[in-house]
Amino acid sequence: MNGVRPPESVGVAIVGGGLMGREIAAALGRWPALVDHPVTPRLVGVADINPAALEWFRTIDTVEITTTDYRDLLADDRVDVVYVAVRHDLHQQIYVDVVEAGKSLLAEKPFGIDGDAARAVLAAVEAHPESFVRCSSEMPYFPGAQVALRYIASGALGEIVSARCSFLHASDLDRAKPSNWKRQARFCGQAGVLNDLGMHTWHVPLRLGWKPERLYGVLQDVVTERPGPDGTPVPCDTWDNAVVHSWVPQPGGKEFPLTTETKRIDPGQKNTWELEAIGMDGSVRFSTKNPKSVQVFGIVDVPGTGREQVWHQVDAGSQSCWPTVTGPNFESGFSDAILQMWAVFLAERHGSLGDRFGAARPEEAALTHVLYDAAITSHAERRVVSL
Ligand SMILES: NC(=O)c1ccc[n+]([C@@H]2O[C@H](COP(=O)([O-])OP(=O)(O)OC[C@H]3O[C@@H](n4cnc5c(N)ncnc54)[C@H](O)[C@@H]3O)[C@@H](O)[C@H]2O)c1
Repeated sequence: MNGVRPPESVGVAIVGGGLMGREIAAALGRWPALVDHPVTPRLVGVADINPAALEWFRTIDTVEITTTDYRDLLADDRVDVVYVAVRHDLHQQIYVDVVEAGKSLLAEKPFGIDGDAARAVLAAVEAHPESFVRCSSEMPYFPGAQVALRYIASGALGEIVSARCSFLHASDLDRAKPSNWKRQARFCGQAGVLNDLGMHTWHVPLRLGWKPERLYGVLQDVVTERPGPDGTPVPCDTWDNAVVHSWVPQPGGKEFPLTTETKRIDPGQKNTWELEAIGMDGSVRFSTKNPKSVQVFGIVDVPGTGREQVWHQVDAGSQSCWPTVTGPNFESGFSDAILQMWAVFLAERHGSLGDRFGAARPEEAALTHVLYDAAITSHAERRVVSL
């Protein structure tokens, strides 16, 4: 015995074996990449109403339960933590059931199809403190994003002049792309692209305490119909692009403008997450478009010229919140960010997060719906909405 506690073994189950369900299964398979993590997750079960979706998971040797009824997972003692990645209209029922079963939950955004659903989940979370709950948002776990966050937390910005956080796709540029549940308000929600991509743009601002006092929403439904299952056009009634201009108070300074952009139709973009914070003393920006590169602003002496404004470039390397065996000079990507989100989620559940950047909290997720509702009202009534 050397006195070091062995890692806690945690049984994980996935509800929804689609795009994200498979991504999370793959991330858990890479767990040995994490150094000295206090938890060892084991993927024990998967539920999907589509039996064909379960097939892929049968190749993972730890998976003992495959079922078309997620309640089988909630009744099983081998399951401690449930990750749910299903259509937005299904969030409320499944999230509440998970929490009421006493299981911990990593819930996909937008944490309910609308504000009422999010508040119902929040009420269940508050009634069941034994259930540790967080909302999925992985982009801040890119190492470059963490460099930018540490820069901001250091106070290097001084008085903040402006900030922007964006999440940009061009996946809907093709008008012939068939419709799916994410393009229909009854499944995706009235907030449309805000429900799909908005959490990615608000996790960091809200965690930094940048809570807007008022906002103006600019929303676009660019493509209003798409081919249905038989090729006949069907309505595509969700917002495609949303820009939210807001004002945020800052202690000891003037309020500053915060802009969030969520776009499905931004030509040239593939899952681009960007953070920019401009201050009187310093500035920082990061984009997953150039995932190694973080830019910090300074005024430096340029030999032969004198004092000049310079955007310096820092290569971020591979290390994010939780250390990994990956060489520090190597590159990082989306799957690494997902692994880091799980590392902090299970570390926080274990009580070992320390001062690391934690996964999005239920109250932050619920607050995003207040912001989305305000943005929709603002757009419809062409006015600034106070929060
Ligand atoms: N964090 C991210 O980066 C990210 C990326 C994409 C999607 N998402 C979110 O993940 C969630 C799912 O999106 P997706 O792209 O994985 O969807 P998807 O359509 O690829 O997969 C959803 C799966 O859920 C299954 N399902 C439907 N009803 C079910 C039920 N009652 N029980 C069990 N399974 C059921 C479907 O058969 C399907 O396999 C959404 O909330 C979405 O917003 C997050």
